[in-house]
Amino acid sequence: MVHIGGNFPGVLCFRTLCRLRTQTETEQPLPVQYGMLWLMDFAPSLSHESEVPLYRQLYEQIASKIRSGALSPGERLPATRELAGLLGLNRTTVSAAYDMLEAEGLIAGQVGRGSFVTGNAPAVTSGVDWDSLLEGSDVPAAGHSATFGKEVASFVMSRPSRDLFPLDEFRASCEAVLGRQDLATILQLGSPSGYEPLRRHLMEEARRQHLAAPGDDLIVTNGCQQALDLIGRVLLRPGDTVAVEDPVYTGLKHLLTGMGAQLVGIPVGADGMEISHLERVLSRERPRFLVVTSNFQNPTGATLPLNARRALLEAARAARVPVVENDAYGELRYSGAELPAIKQLDEHGGTVLLRSFSKVSFPGLRVGWVVGPKPLIDRLRHAKETADLHTDQLSQAVLLEFAESGRLEAHRSRMLEAGARRLAATLDACRQFLPAGCRWTKPQGGMNLWVRLAEPLDAGELLPRAQREGVAYLPGRYFAVSRLEPGALRLSFAGLAPEQIRNGLAILGRIVADEIAGAPESVEPSSAMV
Ligand SMILES: Cc1ncc(COP(=O)(O)O)c(C=O)c1O
Repeated sequence: MVHIGGNFPGVLCFRTLCRLRTQTETEQPLPVQYGMLWLMDFAPSLSHESEVPLYRQLYEQIASKIRSGALSPGERLPATRELAGLLGLNRTTVSAAYDMLEAEGLIAGQVGRGSFVTGNAPAVTSGVDWDSLLEGSDVPAAGHSATFGKEVASFVMSRPSRDLFPLDEFRASCEAVLGRQDLATILQLGSPSGYEPLRRHLMEEARRQHLAAPGDDLIVTNGCQQALDLIGRVLLRPGDTVAVEDPVYTGLKHLLTGMGAQLVGIPVGADGMEISHLERVLSRERPRFLVVTSNFQNPTGATLPLNARRALLEAARAARVPVVENDAYGELRYSGAELPAIKQLDEHGGTVLLRSFSKVSFPGLRVGWVVGPKPLIDRLRHAKETADLHTDQLSQAVLLEFAESGRLEAHRSRMLEAGARRLAATLDACRQFLPAGCRWTKPQGGMNLWVRLAEPLDAGELLPRAQREGVAYLPGRYFAVSRLEPGALRLSFAGLAPEQIRNGLAILGRIVADEIAGAPESVEPSSAMV
């Protein structure tokens, strides 16, 4: 037995104690102070307010200590129950963190003895301290890489199903392009505005649909994501405020905060952004610009009705705030009447429209475009040239061929059919399997649906168990700007077959019902979003 006596300095050298313990008495249960001493050496900083779930924060901090060598091989981790008690966490949270560490080979559990550090002695480095150079530049991980028990259904990714890709039609389009006389031109460096035949085609379509006003221009980008990035680069100055939806697409949140912008979140309800809230923000804060997803918003699936589109435009015009209309999902409407784009309703030139081939066809080709006032598009072109010269021309040429041959429209019809069936399966399964007190949105298109679990459940805390049982989703906190909804989660349904959706939701429903039964407080139904 090691005595902690007066000879020890105020803070005991924990590693010495650990080594002695693992050498001499690892079979014995360790006294309660073990975890406390461990925490004196390794004080994790855990935030309940963070969008990163607690289990993942704990995992990341322990993993980083192991990788840096601050926790060395052979050291023992406190028991999950003890550490949970000391940190004021649920035991399942600590177990989930340990599971992830074990899955990565950083620790190993030994029956009856506890968990020991196994991994990663510090690597011999070149002398460059990469960890400190990169500190602060990290984007929070999406948290969906943890191991599955057996994967039944991953509702994590908002993307089309690869099973629906029309590979023969795509091959035919590639062959047509590869056989063309101008192939060498396609393979040569091109224009930052885009492959000219595709740019012309998109511009003609935009004019036909009254999306392009007389003074407008168009640039091809690497999807809507790059369009958002370029807009941020040309419009933002340090410390600027940007108005966005809350909850919001994480790709936009990370991009803007990475550029130093302050985000003001406009709550999203069943009908998209709350316009009265937006009006107050626009007039009081005068953000540098506003980003809105008019159709099938990610993550909620909500669509802005016509009167709200008009009111938004009016408020933005009055405050002289540009509107960035991100319409990545607009072509995937499964029910209800088409609505005019905000860009189409705008008679004052304050709106810029972003669209993409990603959701309707092939996200891997990375082709999207921006239509807007020429002075802005000119600046985007310069920024694009600096960033990557131009978008891959072979992808652009193949997509043009895919569109002009009629294959894109035929594929879109199949995507609409499949999307409608998948959405219907999701809504049916929510009704059938989610217990009373849970609420969910009812989108008319797109790829995402927003669920609020019955209180007091926390979707992030539930995730490790769901993953172990084969189901994954993204907890609502990933999408939060300033309104944390611990009970919320996003279900991205488009990538799953109806049968997988049903099976996945049956499992999730059972887990939720179990957790409600075991929850300490009485279950209050949460206010319905729809
Ligand atoms: C709202 C939203 N905007 C932009 C993107 C990125 O789209 P793209 O593949 O066109 O870059 C996504 C992708 O999920 C999205 O959900």
